Amino acid sequence: MEETRSVPQHVAIIMDGNGRWAKKRGLPRTAGHYQGAKVVEQILYDADAMGIKYLTVYAFSTENWSRPQSEVKTLMNLLRTYMRTSLQKCAKNNVRIRVLGDRSKLDEDLIEAIDDLERDTKNNTGLQFQIAINYGGRDDIRRGVMKIAEKVRSGELDPASITEETVSENLDTADIPDPDLLIRTSGELRISNFLIWQCAYTEYYFTDVLWPDFNKEELQKAVDAYMHRERRMGGLMQ
Ligand code: FPP
Repeated sequence: MEETRSVPQHVAIIMDGNGRWAKKRGLPRTAGHYQGAKVVEQILYDADAMGIKYLTVYAFSTENWSRPQSEVKTLMNLLRTYMRTSLQKCAKNNVRIRVLGDRSKLDEDLIEAIDDLERDTKNNTGLQFQIAINYGGRDDIRRGVMKIAEKVRSGELDPASITEETVSENLDTADIPDPDLLIRTSGELRISNFLIWQCAYTEYYFTDVLWPDFNKEELQKAVDAYMHRERRMGGLMQ
């Protein structure tokens, strides 16, 4: 008999294909990002309804700064609007928002909006929603190593006592369980520096669907695929 697992506790998503979605329609790339942002909100509610507890999306990578300035500006403005308009919705739906990544490089008003939203939603116990902005997995590890080095220097930490947990606890995702399932849309088969430490045992699911076309049915397909996969984590088949 086939064994099934329960719904993934933590789903991470690389939302790719906004540009191609817009191009197919003869629209500017920014139209794809606007549609993509709408889909994020709907997927958040769908994930919650499916029993997913943590949802993490890759909104802006450390590499995305090299895109044309106008596109960077659009993405930052979208995130700005999102931060400013989410509080009521989060309160209504009991959603907690946290932002992963190096926020120090963002505009001051955006940092303030992020800080406010994190503070005002921190006691919400429903879906835990993480948005990665100016995030890179290697940069996450680099910043974590800096924090650990500082603790060693101050005498708070003995280098010989450093465990894998010590590293995990010093990443942006401290307190957040590792993803069980990572979804990437639009047919690319890479993880592009997203949560590279955290995804050591994660199941990957790739789909050709472009992010703005992603919906509840597609999320359900990914979850179903996850639930029917065998998880060995280095052990032997039973
Ligand atoms: C990749 O598509 C998508 C991004 C780089 C940005 C993702 C951002 C959003 C969906 C909107 C904002 C997010 C939130 C949380 C409100 P692409 O532009 O690389 O597409 P392409 O590969 O087809 O060019």
